[in-house]
Amino acid sequence: MLTLKETVERILSELTLTPPQILVLAESFRAAMEAGMRGKESSLKMLPSFLGKPAGNETGTYAAIDFGGSKVRVLRVKLQGRRQVEIVRQKVFELQDVMKRINGRAADMTGSALFEGIAAALQEVLIPDAPVSLGHAFSFPFRQLGVNQAVLIRWTKEIKASAVEGEDVTRLLTKALAAKQMNYVTPAAVVNDTVGTYLASAYDEPATLIGSICGTGHNSCYLGAYDGKEMIINLESGNFDRVAPTVYDQVLDADSDRPGEQRLEKMVGGRYLGELFRLIIVDLIEKNLLFRDRREKFYLSPYQLKTEDLSVLLNPEEQESPGTSKFAEKYGLQDVRIEEYGVLRQIASAILTRAARLVGISYLGILAQVAQSAGKRYVVAMDGSLYEKNPQFASQLQYIIKTYSRHSVGVKMVKNGSGIGAAIAAAVADGEKRIKIAKF
Ligand code: GLC
Repeated sequence: MLTLKETVERILSELTLTPPQILVLAESFRAAMEAGMRGKESSLKMLPSFLGKPAGNETGTYAAIDFGGSKVRVLRVKLQGRRQVEIVRQKVFELQDVMKRINGRAADMTGSALFEGIAAALQEVLIPDAPVSLGHAFSFPFRQLGVNQAVLIRWTKEIKASAVEGEDVTRLLTKALAAKQMNYVTPAAVVNDTVGTYLASAYDEPATLIGSICGTGHNSCYLGAYDGKEMIINLESGNFDRVAPTVYDQVLDADSDRPGEQRLEKMVGGRYLGELFRLIIVDLIEKNLLFRDRREKFYLSPYQLKTEDLSVLLNPEEQESPGTSKFAEKYGLQDVRIEEYGVLRQIASAILTRAARLVGISYLGILAQVAQSAGKRYVVAMDGSLYEKNPQFASQLQYIIKTYSRHSVGVKMVKNGSGIGAAIAAAVADGEKRIKIAKF
């Protein structure tokens, strides 16, 4: 029988990425990108966006929807050109509130109710009957057939609305807009949230190479080439599947809605890290190594423990003693032994460190695939609460880039960039349409 200390050491070492593993994984990520681009079997889908880098001089007022999973943000945005943007109006809704207004209850979510709810939300920030082009940031994997045509491949992040997979979401949105007498809104572009984040950053920072989300979910896009044209490509990197899972990762995956899918996202996404932590702690309890006389205290239901709780647990301002810790108070653990409380902190820290390093490794893979000469300056446009709210996550990610990249890579936080980016996408799409019409 292993002791608590020995067992924890084993878990921590399984969660640690050694320098050789980091290099092998970065190369394997790069190789998966290349295979995906060539249409070969790969966990990376490499989805073209039909958009390149914005010029920064796009102007006009646009509507935007940002549907990311648990929230719906609707905006009216004024692009002022000269790389400046003004948000004229915006509102944020919890998805369940949007659904309740349409459905009475959030549980049975059909595709048409979902898009009607989103259209009703949008109505609240627009001027009735004033014609406007719309950019739609839709944070799910879709196959793009044109700049405003996007067929949902499959839902991720545990969304289940029926009759949307395999459908063109712009068609569903257009139908919902018509049902709400909102024909004055023209859907012009649909972008993944990573692409939106990229565009919002590149509008004023031409060195932007990568757009990335580290929040509930995780994904990145980058400025690459497609059919010989400069184009932003959505990697759907959350589906990368070459990281060796621990037994806890395997349990989490097996019990998830879509076993076998989004394997990287399940190791780095805010939706999953709290659950991973819970699974490890429950295992230590079951092995009779932790909380012996008060084990029932930690029997929480799946996903009850949130990733935010891990940030609270690791907050450097928190006392290292359970008696005064906010985390211990929330879960009734104030009177556990200080060693046991230390174990909680060690495990939480290892989970966050692994997550940040894995994200950093994926950037190394992208850089290896696209960046030519050493020493160039690149910017990663970042959005998401995991990066924003966890200093440890941010510093571990930066540590990987600094230590292993030949380039000077800065991470720039672009908060709520995807909505603004969607508006920019609509402007770019409208601009291209005008050029085409002028040619004929
Ligand atoms: C999920 C989605 C992806 C999105 C990411 C971040 O991974 O599949 O499209 O970009 O979450 O929201």
